[in-house]
Amino acid sequence: MKNTIVIGAYWGDEGKGKIVDLLAENTELVIRYNGGDNAGHTIVVGDKKTVLHVMPSGIIQGKDVAIGPDVFVNPKSFFEDYKQVEDAFGVKGKILIDERAHIIMPYHIVFDAGVEEERDKKIGTTKRGIGPVAKDKAARTEDISAADLVGDHFREKLQKVLLLKIHDLIRYKIIETADDLDKYADEIFNEYSEYAKKMKGFVCNVSYVINNTVNSGKFVLIEGAQGALLDVVHGTRPYVTSSNTTAGGAYANLGVNPKKFNVVGIAKAYPTRVGEGPFPTQLDDELGAAIQKDGHEFGATTGRPRKAGMPDFVALRYSGMINAVDEWAITKLDVLAGKKFKAAIAYEKDGKKTDEFPFILDGWKPVYDKEYYFDVLSEDDCIEIVKKGYDSMPEGIKDYLKDLVKYTGVPVGMISLSPKRDITLIEGVLEKTKEYLK
Ligand code: IMP
Repeated sequence: MKNTIVIGAYWGDEGKGKIVDLLAENTELVIRYNGGDNAGHTIVVGDKKTVLHVMPSGIIQGKDVAIGPDVFVNPKSFFEDYKQVEDAFGVKGKILIDERAHIIMPYHIVFDAGVEEERDKKIGTTKRGIGPVAKDKAARTEDISAADLVGDHFREKLQKVLLLKIHDLIRYKIIETADDLDKYADEIFNEYSEYAKKMKGFVCNVSYVINNTVNSGKFVLIEGAQGALLDVVHGTRPYVTSSNTTAGGAYANLGVNPKKFNVVGIAKAYPTRVGEGPFPTQLDDELGAAIQKDGHEFGATTGRPRKAGMPDFVALRYSGMINAVDEWAITKLDVLAGKKFKAAIAYEKDGKKTDEFPFILDGWKPVYDKEYYFDVLSEDDCIEIVKKGYDSMPEGIKDYLKDLVKYTGVPVGMISLSPKRDITLIEGVLEKTKEYLK
């Protein structure tokens, strides 16, 4: 076991929830480091399916969990997650929320929808208020932190912030005139002071807790939300989210030592994308529809259908580089069974070819190489593979994984063949796939 950071390699929805749930087993503390309730992490245990939005997935294992300083917390979603876990499994571990975490307020959600309508390039946000709360965090004058929420001066702070926002509150028809401000502040206060009472005991400095845990020789697991290509710096801007989704974001925002962490990149066997923005290997054909259907590719947060694409080694290699990924966890490989597919190995535009992932993707077309295929696997087949090991996998899968490893320069450590926790091949996989790099 190692201290681990789990990140999504493409545009999110890679199936991180299951892998985090698996890796959480031997760790002391599971920490969420970015995003907010724009994420939806689906975890299936036995016949119970849970979708968590802001609570770290390790809670299901009864672990202590922490929400880091760069997470945007909507208290309503937080307590909905809490209730879901309480009802299904019971909340057994401690829950910590960093005092610096920013609180999503009702007006952020209204602004998110409003700004989206006014944008010249629509991003297709999840409308959870992420952009507006991130803007407040960066501007430093109108932000409300968890410390503010549970502190003694929340009502005064709220009043001050709402006054600064008065033009937008009127513009987005949240209030009609300045005279309505106090009433609106009271409404928010009444709702949020209830959350504050329940949250107060959770709020602390999470960085100390993580560092103390690591220094005591126990293991921690850091889970990212969304995927590397939605990173606010390295992603496909402006069609990105408002936080650092890459592994570096975890070090910076949690204040932990990068040298002490192993990075597991969750690479779904094929990419998907929700919202707007470029998606070079997008499939608009029967294959795309079949992947979407078989992979149940519908947003866990918004229910929106996810567009599906061919595997993209160019994007994956870039993702491996910007996250310094140590090993891939391949998810949803079973979805590609019985389908002929190819992988992008370069991009081409006006006769020029590149193996680098371009920032401005306009006009770049993927270049595909050979075709891959393996037969449909029954649940029993998958269980057999997990028992017998890597070599027992169909040649078509091994061929695909070999090329993926060679192209990205990163070995595979885990192969998920079903949403079920146990149907995941781990034993000996890293050693086998490291061979491909020799
Ligand atoms: P926002 O994070 O709600 O501002 O949305 C910005 C972009 O990120 C949109 O394209 C969303 O669809 C996308 N996005 C945000 N969270 C997720 C996620 O958890 N999975 C996939 N896409 C996401």
